[in-house]
Amino acid sequence: MRHGIPIADGVYWVGMNDRKTNLFESIWPIPRGVSYNSYLLLDEKTLLVDTVKDLSVNEYLARLKSLLGPDRQIDYLAINHMEPDHSGSVPVLRRIFPAMTIVGSKKTAGFLKDLYGIEDNVQVVNDGEELSLGRRTLRFYMTPMVHWPETMMTYEVTDGILFSGDAFGGFGCLEGGIFDDQVQLEYFEDEILRYFSNIVGKYSPMVQKAIQRLGSLNVKVIAATHGPIWRSRPEHIISLYDRWSRYEAEPGVVLVFGSMYGNTQIMAEAVARGLSDAGLKSVRMHNVSTTHVSYLIQDIWRYRGLVLGCPTYDASVFPPMDALLRLLSTKRIAKRIVGLFGSHGWAGGAVQAMAGFVKDNGLGLVEPTVDVRFAGTPEQIEQCHELGRRMVERLGAKGE
Ligand code: FEO
Repeated sequence: MRHGIPIADGVYWVGMNDRKTNLFESIWPIPRGVSYNSYLLLDEKTLLVDTVKDLSVNEYLARLKSLLGPDRQIDYLAINHMEPDHSGSVPVLRRIFPAMTIVGSKKTAGFLKDLYGIEDNVQVVNDGEELSLGRRTLRFYMTPMVHWPETMMTYEVTDGILFSGDAFGGFGCLEGGIFDDQVQLEYFEDEILRYFSNIVGKYSPMVQKAIQRLGSLNVKVIAATHGPIWRSRPEHIISLYDRWSRYEAEPGVVLVFGSMYGNTQIMAEAVARGLSDAGLKSVRMHNVSTTHVSYLIQDIWRYRGLVLGCPTYDASVFPPMDALLRLLSTKRIAKRIVGLFGSHGWAGGAVQAMAGFVKDNGLGLVEPTVDVRFAGTPEQIEQCHELGRRMVERLGAKGE
């Protein structure tokens, strides 16, 4: 590990695992950490692809030095993405390797100046432009908004290695194995989806554009900035990202409820029973007050059915539910079928506001919508059960 890990002749993974940060972007919990993948190519010229967060810069420099030896410098740094989880070490590298040419998109040049005050020795490349290192040639593809406007991908022509930036990445440290054939993929896939849905999902149309743009390339290895390197089944991660960015979902239901004193939870349990009585196995039930929103968004991206229920609070939606709805709108969730229920005391508001969310986002609605006063009547609880049954009918998901 100290010397990096070879991924091809003269191409090394030199990334770092972050096991210290609790919240990625100060928002998203990462209980299993995250890797910042960086790659060093040793050819007649040397080139680094992306760097790592400044958190681990000393260890990172030691790794680079051990591969470069005492005499070699870094000739080029290709920046696919400027978010500081990847560009954080750029200022230090620039001080240590002052002659290093930084290669990136036009927007990257502007971001380098505004983030780090770096203006000299920056080479702007255009879509399709190539750079020869000697034996190896790199080609750059502009893939804006995957995940920031400056993002590009770097394709190594000889071995078909696509350095893809955030695209095809995921949360979770690399735990010894760095390749898809060295790890249990099922262990990684939940965290890859949580990463996709919370970080990249909003930019799904741009992911689609990038996938189409790269369709003609002979990609043998996908080396993203986070998560495993895909050398055995690159088509698998492309297919996952393709499906998710087309909002394709599995036939299951996520039931998210909030409840202050238990009345809405009774309704939620009745809906869940209805789902089960109609034969659905894929039910994921979450208390919106106690589950971090990133896990809710992950499940909502996975399943086609969504049932939302909460009490009215201050004549509107229960605040934790409101936060979820706002984030789902921001993330531009699409192609979901939604059921709604809620309870109120003297004035309603929550169910009406949730109905507004469904309409504003062009989502489908399953009836009955159940809005009760305080605890609701036995007939109204039975309606919740009916809502569950009708959701399964609408999804055509019996037995799933
Ligand atoms: Fe991993 Fe958008 O940075």
